[in-house]
Amino acid sequence: MTEVIIAKSEDAAGEIYAKAMASLIASKPNAVLGLATGSSPLTAYKHLAAHVAAEHLDVSQVRGFALDEYVGLGVNHEQSYHATINRTVTEPLGLNPEFVHVPNGDLSTIQTAGADYDAAIEAAGGVDCQILGIGTDGHIGFNEPGSSLVSGTRIKTLLEQTREDNKRFFTSLDEVPTHAITQGIGTILRARHLVLLAFGESKAPAIAAAVEGGISSFCPASALQLHPRATVIVDEAAASQLKNLDYYKYAVAHKPAWQGI
Ligand code: F6R
Repeated sequence: MTEVIIAKSEDAAGEIYAKAMASLIASKPNAVLGLATGSSPLTAYKHLAAHVAAEHLDVSQVRGFALDEYVGLGVNHEQSYHATINRTVTEPLGLNPEFVHVPNGDLSTIQTAGADYDAAIEAAGGVDCQILGIGTDGHIGFNEPGSSLVSGTRIKTLLEQTREDNKRFFTSLDEVPTHAITQGIGTILRARHLVLLAFGESKAPAIAAAVEGGISSFCPASALQLHPRATVIVDEAAASQLKNLDYYKYAVAHKPAWQGI
């Protein structure tokens, strides 16, 4: 089952992720981190950067693979995921930029970029822990509803809703690209640990569908139910439509201290 942790705040959730990643890096200096953009992981990255500094962790061998990239935007655009990952993860954590990968959204190579990316993840030994956000429509990465649950990295057309959700990062809706290249759900499920973060009431329906609804390509995040080690960390607002809330809280309260996430 997916483990659901109801954190007191976004800050507390970020610290849970950061503590787990710091311990992963300490035990495996060349750990492979699966990275996401968007608002949900930002606090988690800040906490991880603080752990790296406070514990003097050697991150020189840490590798990273981002989930997705806009097609045709160009890596130099400040809202490209290449630039975003650099700004929010690579620089604050002090990772080697050569070891941090983002799918290639360049139009000239888009037909082979997906397969190349999956091959690069495999060559790195697979992702140790993939951090995820969730869209209001249940998407993970840019796998919109209807995405195959065994898909590999490929190009996807974005829903108008997703473009609307993301227009806050651009000056107008017209500027938001219509296509993205994203790790597939099959790619995401190959990571050894999945950690999904969601905050706020607007995410509550998607979280309820993902965790307690049926497994369906129409709620791509429901694929987490197929994963042997998936952790969903939410605040009270994002958890507010879960039916089994008391059980999740009970399970976390009675968890052995050594278990971690
Ligand atoms: C980002 C990504 C998306 C976001 C999702 C939630 O790389 O793949 O799936 O995680 O759209 O976005 P936020 O966190 O901004 O609500």
